[in-house]
Amino acid sequence: MTIVDELRALQVEALEAFGSAADLAELEYARIAYLGKKGSLTAVLRGLGSLAPEERPEVGKVSNEVRGALEAALAARKNELSGVALADRFAAEAVDVTLPGRPRFPGKRHLISQVVDEIVRVFLGLGYKIAEGPEAELDYYNFTALNHPPEHPARAATDTFYLRDLSGDGATASGESDVLLRTHTSPVQVRVMERQQPPIFILAPGKVYRRDVADPSHLPQFTQIEGLVVDEGITFGDLKGTLEHFVREIFGPERRVRLRPHFFPFTEPSAEVDVSCAMCGGSGCRSCSGEGWIEVLGSGMVDPNVFGYVGIDPERYSGFAFGMGAERIAALKYGIPDLRLFVDGDMRFLRQF
Ligand code: PHE
Repeated sequence: MTIVDELRALQVEALEAFGSAADLAELEYARIAYLGKKGSLTAVLRGLGSLAPEERPEVGKVSNEVRGALEAALAARKNELSGVALADRFAAEAVDVTLPGRPRFPGKRHLISQVVDEIVRVFLGLGYKIAEGPEAELDYYNFTALNHPPEHPARAATDTFYLRDLSGDGATASGESDVLLRTHTSPVQVRVMERQQPPIFILAPGKVYRRDVADPSHLPQFTQIEGLVVDEGITFGDLKGTLEHFVREIFGPERRVRLRPHFFPFTEPSAEVDVSCAMCGGSGCRSCSGEGWIEVLGSGMVDPNVFGYVGIDPERYSGFAFGMGAERIAALKYGIPDLRLFVDGDMRFLRQF
């Protein structure tokens, strides 16, 4: 076999190898095998030196042709294979833009906070200011200055959480300096009136605590919103008008309001306020225990004895107060059957509001 035949045979073999390389790595092996420093073509070309001078031009020409052909074929195959590699990657990494996205929950305010905000907004619109008081409260503010007699049942250790029982009597009807978790927001009334003369228009939202076992209608900790108005000439009519306005703003204009005589130690006269049941419209159903009405808050005219504790002249001034549970208002507004849902932290419930 002449060296020219050898070169031609090598060309055929190399083209075959390039063509059958399945990917870029195999192609690189083939390149090294034929065109690499120790490759077959290189080996043949190295032998050119030993040729007779008259053979050299011909063999030189053919070997250049072969090298040229192989390099061209290599480049073309490389192109082809990287196209395939790219197409494979495109297929593997393809994003199906028609798939629905994964929604992210950005978080929001708790329903009770939303309801408190809404109630606060109604009263800010009437010119009230926000007031606050401590959750760990003195017996004096929670009971005594609110005209609770020493033997009042709410003072029992079975009803109230005592933090410090100075008189050591099991906390019932004990000293005014006992420290307890406030059982209502009414002590804020006393604190405000102690430091401010009328006119007073305040709203006091906050947490309160009672020794109740959690059930569908009770929580040991819940949220109250207290209102207090003291000025010259404040009447029961002002209380009624204010509460009717509040109920319509929060529950809608179609709800009816009813005031029912009641008793609180710190208001006289006192009234509980009912709204017509949203479920049955007032005809009576399971939600309202057949009553047609649901109680939403306690209220009344500030008792002159309370004015006595804070140094406001009951001959000159009169006032009204009211207190409501935010959880109860939220439950009524949204038809929630169990107050424990507000504190369970179940996102499936909370996200709905
Ligand atoms: N503090 C009372 C309660 O917790 C509610 C109330 C507030 C009643 C103000 C009258 C006036 O039940």
